[in-house]
Amino acid sequence: MSINKPAGVLYSALLFIATVHTAWAGVCLFTKYPVNGLPVNVTLVVNNVIENPTFKSSQTISLPQTYLISVVSAAADVNKVFQYSAQYYSNLGLMITAINNVFANQQKRTYWEFIDAKTLKPLECGVSTFVPFNEDVILFNLTTY
Ligand SMILES: *[C@@H]1O[C@H](CO)[C@@H](O)[C@H](O)[C@H]1NC(C)=O
Ligand SMILES: *[C@@H]1O[C@H](CO)[C@@H](O)[C@H](O)[C@H]1NC(C)=O
Repeated sequence: MSINKPAGVLYSALLFIATVHTAWAGVCLFTKYPVNGLPVNVTLVVNNVIENPTFKSSQTISLPQTYLISVVSAAADVNKVFQYSAQYYSNLGLMITAINNVFANQQKRTYWEFIDAKTLKPLECGVSTFVPFNEDVILFNLTTY
């Protein structure tokens, strides 16, 4: 029996990602949730208590329902603290590597964790697959692993 190579490679990539960026691995990596386009208010909070200078900011965005990455872009347009850098991984989507110029750092074992602020649970999807609902509050928290 031969191993299904693409699946194996993808699985290794996922394991790596799951280890290094726990918040990124989740059930909806391969499935884009439908977007209904109805108006939503989504509040984003960014919190960095690790790197100096520390910062915290929050921004509520009103827009037609869309993927989280578009909500972050809309927040960045009105609040510079939400300016971000992201890297695109084939078939997996975007991963945010920095917010407000603070990069995830392997030496310092830091990464940006995305948390549902109401349940305090990490999001199960990446920013380009997660679709926030009306009144959702999403916390981007610089943390360590
Ligand atoms: C979003 O917030 C605004 C201002 O509070 C409110 O007028 C509007 O009804 C809200 N939209 C939704 C979809 O809840
Ligand atoms: C945010 O990150 C800080 C630093 O790692 C941590 O102490 C805090 O518990 C985190 N907040 C949440 C809600 O996970």
